Amino acid sequence: MTATQPSPPVTTAPAIQVQGVIKRFGATTAIQDATLELTIHDRLSIVGPSGCGKSTLLGIISGLDDPDAGVVSVLGESTSQGRLKKCAWMPQRDLLLPWRDVLGNAAISLENRGVRAKVARQQVADLAGRFGLAGFEDRYPYQLSGGMRQRVSFLRTLSAGKEVLLFDEPFGALDSITRADLQLWLRGALDEEPRTTILVTHDVEEALLLGNKVVVMSARPGRIQATFEVSLPEGMSRRDLIRLPEFGDLRDQILGLLEAS
Ligand SMILES: Nc1ncnc2c1ncn2[C@@H]1O[C@H](COP(=O)(O)OP(=O)(O)O)[C@@H](O)[C@H]1O
Ligand SMILES: [Mg+2]
Repeated sequence: MTATQPSPPVTTAPAIQVQGVIKRFGATTAIQDATLELTIHDRLSIVGPSGCGKSTLLGIISGLDDPDAGVVSVLGESTSQGRLKKCAWMPQRDLLLPWRDVLGNAAISLENRGVRAKVARQQVADLAGRFGLAGFEDRYPYQLSGGMRQRVSFLRTLSAGKEVLLFDEPFGALDSITRADLQLWLRGALDEEPRTTILVTHDVEEALLLGNKVVVMSARPGRIQATFEVSLPEGMSRRDLIRLPEFGDLRDQILGLLEAS
């Protein structure tokens, strides 16, 4: 590159910047000096002991809350209002409306964006098959398994059309088999519909399967103890992935940090 050429494309600029963030609740310091930087291609997993400030940090990034000190910016937006516009949040509990069927629930985000209900239904119907929901479009939440409800919830989160997806222990309420199934499914779904994502989980294997970066937080007050880069081969089963030596090495290092904190 010569000196007269423009700088590299903006895709390498940080999409999410968290700089020196401190958050207190009364006398409790929930987060003590968190700093991280993500590009638009990043999928970050955050692991840490219960109560270390993971949900608090996610809430601050999303714009639902503000830090007491420090700077947070999401795609150039540093006010909480601006960050809210960029982020979609998928909660631990699916929060589906019991009186709406699968497509009706999935379509809510589009309706909130001003799309007419019928059109919104059609648009999510096109995606429902890819989300393993074909044949279940007109079922109600009580007729679905926990895993299916989370797929609907994910479809709704994705249809919000936001650049950044935030997941707070999205599979925390599911049994381990459904959970394992959905982890690989989500990995594939995010390959098809790439987004900048942050996933909070207390499950180290889930963190490694879904993130290209894993941040380990210390016990309260939460600090970022370490960041790991993850690069696993594509197209492998979950079983084979977790048996890879590099997977085991990372898992042991992260578990070691968590046990020590
Ligand atoms: N709204 C709140 N008011 C008071 N304390 C809170 C509030 N939200 C979180 N906390 C406290 O902050 C700490 C971090 O909470 P949280 O972010 O939920 O942890 P995690 O998600 O890692 O389990 C905890 O001690 C929790 O009790
Ligand atoms: Mg939490």
